[in-house]
Amino acid sequence: MKSLKYLLILCLILSFSDLAMSQTTKVIEIKTKSTSLVYTVDQTNRLVFQYFGRATASPAGFLKQKAYPKPDTNRDYSYEAYPTFGLGNINEPALAAIHADGSLNTELEFLSVERDDSRSDLEKTVIHLKDRVYDFEVELHTNAFFSEDVISQWVVIRNLEKGPVHLTNFASSFLPLKAESYYLTHFYGAWAGEMGMVEEKLENGIKVIECKKGVRTTQTENPSFILSLNHPALENEGDCYGGSLAWSGNYRLAFQLDELKKLNIISGINPFLSAWSLNPGESFTTPEMIYTYSNEGRGQVSRNLHEWGRKYGMVGGDQIHDIVLNSWEGAYFSFDENTLTGMMDDAAELGIETFVLDDGWFGNKYPRSNDDAGLGDWQTNKNKLPRGLDYLIDYAHSKGLKFGLWIEPEMVNPESELAENHPEWIVQSPGREKIAWRNQLLLDLSNPKVQDFVYNVFDSLLTTHPGIEYIKWDANRHVEQAGSTWLPASEQTHFWVLYTKGLYTVYERIRAKYPNFMIQDCASGGGRLDYGALKYHNEYWTSDNTDPLSRIFIQYGTSLIYPPVGSASHVSTSPNHQTQRMTPLKFRFDVATTGRLGMELQPKNIQGKEREFAVESIRNYKQTIRPLVTVGDLYRLISPYDDGGWASQMYVAKDKAEAVLFAFSIAPHTRGVFPTVKLNGLDETKHYQVKEINKNGRVRFWGDGQTFAGDYLMNVGIELNISDQFDSAVFLLKEMK
Ligand code: DGJ
Repeated sequence: MKSLKYLLILCLILSFSDLAMSQTTKVIEIKTKSTSLVYTVDQTNRLVFQYFGRATASPAGFLKQKAYPKPDTNRDYSYEAYPTFGLGNINEPALAAIHADGSLNTELEFLSVERDDSRSDLEKTVIHLKDRVYDFEVELHTNAFFSEDVISQWVVIRNLEKGPVHLTNFASSFLPLKAESYYLTHFYGAWAGEMGMVEEKLENGIKVIECKKGVRTTQTENPSFILSLNHPALENEGDCYGGSLAWSGNYRLAFQLDELKKLNIISGINPFLSAWSLNPGESFTTPEMIYTYSNEGRGQVSRNLHEWGRKYGMVGGDQIHDIVLNSWEGAYFSFDENTLTGMMDDAAELGIETFVLDDGWFGNKYPRSNDDAGLGDWQTNKNKLPRGLDYLIDYAHSKGLKFGLWIEPEMVNPESELAENHPEWIVQSPGREKIAWRNQLLLDLSNPKVQDFVYNVFDSLLTTHPGIEYIKWDANRHVEQAGSTWLPASEQTHFWVLYTKGLYTVYERIRAKYPNFMIQDCASGGGRLDYGALKYHNEYWTSDNTDPLSRIFIQYGTSLIYPPVGSASHVSTSPNHQTQRMTPLKFRFDVATTGRLGMELQPKNIQGKEREFAVESIRNYKQTIRPLVTVGDLYRLISPYDDGGWASQMYVAKDKAEAVLFAFSIAPHTRGVFPTVKLNGLDETKHYQVKEINKNGRVRFWGDGQTFAGDYLMNVGIELNISDQFDSAVFLLKEMK
């Protein structure tokens, strides 16, 4: 009798489990050239994440897909496409909402899918989801960029309930992965040391990459990662995912290795103190999370991101960028007309194309002779520049140079007319003393009047001085005390998101009027380097650290995510102002020519042989290197993070007929120790002449000028005579027919 009872219970459990085994009723496959992202809908209308990786030839297999039942429940082990708190998800939620009636639970069901494949380069998919009980909807958007193998994802959350809904978590995207082990590469740093690379094996628990600084958010971490499955990331092989959040405010990328050994990646705006209330009928749109995948290692991941970034992620990414002389390290705040026109004379002689006047040109009641006054008062300082900006602009033009100008329109010195006239525009907390950073405070961009002001700083400068052709947009502090005199008490938590959205509103207006105008993205160096900001910029100031050795590391990390064409990379003086390190001019040039070349010094101090070298190097950059840096494919050959004390990389033209190779000696080496550099990205069957340029009196390869087969260069490699620390070599490769 007893055993019959157990048998009955067992039968019940079995039939219950069988019922719980979810059945797939629909497959949604989103495809790029080599990747597939697959969701399925099960018989209970759950949208389930199935797969993101190498393209599937037969997605029909997913129709047969079933998930095993969890014990003691009618749920199964499948992962929702966009997991919410409430019913079925015990991991980090992408979305958590307090509904109008106070309920904490959300459970989304699939409603429909819309696809727009009218463009050959980009397919748009919107999956409509709705809470099973409430009138609360989520649209899951995915853009698939076919040729670049990039997808981007974001959500629109809509409240159709009778009362307000409070969002406490509102991530852009959820990506679960399954492997034996997971290796996360992320990018940490500080002022003058951005995009340092670190790789770690993820263990159970949650690893978080985040920022709560509100503004200048990418100096200490970057909202980007590379994730390698089963082993540390390799340059040319292995399953690798790249991700980057297009958002310039607080972010949070959480990597949870859960009890099922799956990695749950939740990326989006940092919900820290940012609860968002959605009134009936309102919606909230999250920023885009950008992903790519390759089974050819992080090299291909970064090339995918570069291709995408140049085309969709920045302004004019495929355009040749001018060589710039920026006045900052050459003059700082101490200049007059003669200093600047003298710099322009030299710039023109050297072959530079744009002169940029950095900080210090404005403020009269409170002159900007240091960083403690004048910020916010965007009128030309009459003492320093009695004939105004137009005199300088005309002078630049007379020398064949374009003229650029520095602004920092989101910020204000307490000692300024702007702070006197509009104290209410400053970010502040009632009754508390305001904390200055670099003697400055932040303007409250959640306020539309401040947005107008910031827009007008840009627009009036360009309308009054139409000869300006370049703006360097700086931002030198973060949020210390959040608080807006504009927002009601109940919406103070909206400040963080509204600041960034306010900034983007300003940029949208600017780009509507000045679509291709050259704007540099700068925030104390690389403090605002993310695809949210880059979308409005043509280039980025990679770091305030212009030391070439530091730059090799900074630019290496940067190049894993962002296109090198935008990486402003300037030759500065020696000893370097940030590190005091002394390096030869050739080394400084060779490093700077791996990105968007510029100079950041007093050029009259370069004389004699050094000047001849500078002229030659700039000429070579224009003629041969620049087109390859602009649109060529980057191959990293030797990592500066390796133990050898070398670094090397190359850019290869799309047709593989030309390439430029850079190699650097970054540590002392004993006599007779040389690096062998194995090239990459060439056509094995083509023959290339290898010719050293910027030699500066010495040949560094025994085969200089000779022709080699592509397969020899890539498999055998070439040994370079660059043992001395800070020696370097640049070679042009040209196909010989
Ligand atoms: C910080 C920037 O990163 C520098 O290049 C320079 O523009 C200074 N600000 C000027 O204040």
